[in-house]
Formats: sequence, structure tokens, C-alpha cells
Amino acid sequence: MGVMRIGHVNLRVMDMDAAVRHYENVLGLKTTMVDKSGNVYLKCWDEWDKYSLILTPSDRAGMNHMAYKVEKDADLDTLKEKIEAWGVQTTLLPEGTLPATGRMLQFHLPSGHEMRLYAMKEYVGTEVGTQSPDPWPDGLKGAGAHWLDHTLLMCEMNPPEGVNTVADNVRFMTEVLDFFLTEQVMVGPDGSIQAAAWMSRTTTPHDIAFVGAPTSGLHHIAYFLDSWHDVLKAADVMAKTKTRIDVAPTRHGITRGETIYFFDPSGNRNETFAGLGYLAQRDRPVTTWSEDRLGSGIFFHTGDLVPSFTEVYT
Ligand SMILES: [Fe+2]
Repeated sequence: MGVMRIGHVNLRVMDMDAAVRHYENVLGLKTTMVDKSGNVYLKCWDEWDKYSLILTPSDRAGMNHMAYKVEKDADLDTLKEKIEAWGVQTTLLPEGTLPATGRMLQFHLPSGHEMRLYAMKEYVGTEVGTQSPDPWPDGLKGAGAHWLDHTLLMCEMNPPEGVNTVADNVRFMTEVLDFFLTEQVMVGPDGSIQAAAWMSRTTTPHDIAFVGAPTSGLHHIAYFLDSWHDVLKAADVMAKTKTRIDVAPTRHGITRGETIYFFDPSGNRNETFAGLGYLAQRDRPVTTWSEDRLGSGIFFHTGDLVPSFTEVYT
């Protein structure tokens, strides 16, 4: 089957205590493990594998890698061949490279972002369990995020030089990893430049997204909430904890998601994303946003692009 879903992200943070407080108290994750190097591993209450976030001590913010889970271990061998045939080098990292995790296939997207695929991670289950479970566990903190939902990556784009790693990533994800395109932004005089793309492997509007930028980096990681009311409550939590909010609760035109953007203490942008928007099916026609409607695509109510939203990333 290949890629099933997002598995985890590894973020760099400058103040570990502040970062753990943020992800535990604002988003509601729980720490499940700390390793010898001081990396902290956390998970959301509705996730059953041991971790979905690794925080690594560093002197600068940003993302080290993101990992997606494949269905079977043998998929890693099949995908290794496919990825290399496409012209991308890979490395098979042995089991135990990350604790509680099987072997990982490591490579870089055309945009330069490190991606890993893995099939096995230690199963720890959820507090509500799998036998006649309650809808949510007691003692949830902060926003009580359900799960890590998606990443949005800034991808180097310089059309005069013929560089567009958004389009390169879309081709790679489509041809090699069998993702499908749900939405895109087309710019330029004849709308021929693919400046942003939202792609899925599941039935959500996006499992990963790419946006063109002067240099590649991380725009945000997003956590799933149930409803608009949960988004509002998450914003209340952020105000109470003096969390730096980038964009207060609103709706995206693209994906129809209900959203808040905010920053962790190191400056990594987070999002809480509610509502499934729509059911993404493989035969769904691609939604296209033109340059003159881009503002509404990003922030549907005002239609205005917030400069920090496109200019600030790690
Ligand atoms: Fe997002």
C-alpha cells in the first residue's frame, strides 16, 4: 500500500523546558520518553504510537526531518527502488536509529527537506483504549489536540532561474509516493506557475503542503481539533498562557480548514486545524486558486495576506 499517513516530525528548539511546557500545556501532548541526548518524545491523546513529535535541543529553530508511516516493512524496499529510479538518493537507517522505531528510509525531497519512511513504531495505545472507549480521556490539558495532522513546507522557488521545487515536489510525491493533488495556487502572467500545492494520501484535504518561497524551510506543523468551538477554546488557552498568536481564529478558503497560527517558544509555527474540510477522494477534481484570489484562499474572511504569514518561517 505504501505511505499510510504522517508519523512524526523532529523539531529543533532552543529552550527545552519552555518547549515541553508549550507542547504539553498549550497543545495537550504528553511526554512519553527522553533519550540520552536530551531529545524529548511526545504524543497526542488520540495517537497510539509512542510519539509523533521529537524535540531536539539546538541553537536554532526549524525542522530536522518529518516521517511518514508505510503499511508494511517490505514497502520500504519497494519504495527505495522507486525513489532511486526517480533520481533521488536514499539511505536505509537501521532499526533503533530512533528509539522504539524500526528501520527508516531516509531521503531528501527536491526542495531539500529531509523525509523518512518507516513501518514500525512501538504501540502504546491511548488512555481510552480500544474496548468500548470513552470519546475522550479525563485530564486533557490545553487545546487537547487529537493528532499531528500535516506539515506545510516552504519550498525554494525562483521562476526567472527556472527553479520551482513546489512543482518538483508535486511530481515526486505523485509519481513515486502516490500522493494526489487536492488544491493548488497558480500564478504568473498566464497562471502557469504552480506556486503552492496541497496533497493527500488519505481522505483529508492535505497530509502535506508545499508553498513557494525564496529559500526552503518549515512553515508550520498542524494539530487536529474536532470543531470550530475547539479552535476558539484553543485560542483562549493561548491567550491565557501568553502564547504568541500569528493569526487569530479564522477560516482558510484552501482546504476550508478552521485555523489558528501561533508559535512555540523557539519560533516554530504551529497550527490548530479543525474540521475535515471535505472528504478528499482520489477522483476529486483539483481545486485551483488564481493569484488575484490568493488572499481569500489563505484567509477567507478578510481576503488579506498577513505579511508575517508568508515572510516568517524557520
Ligand atoms: Fe496547515
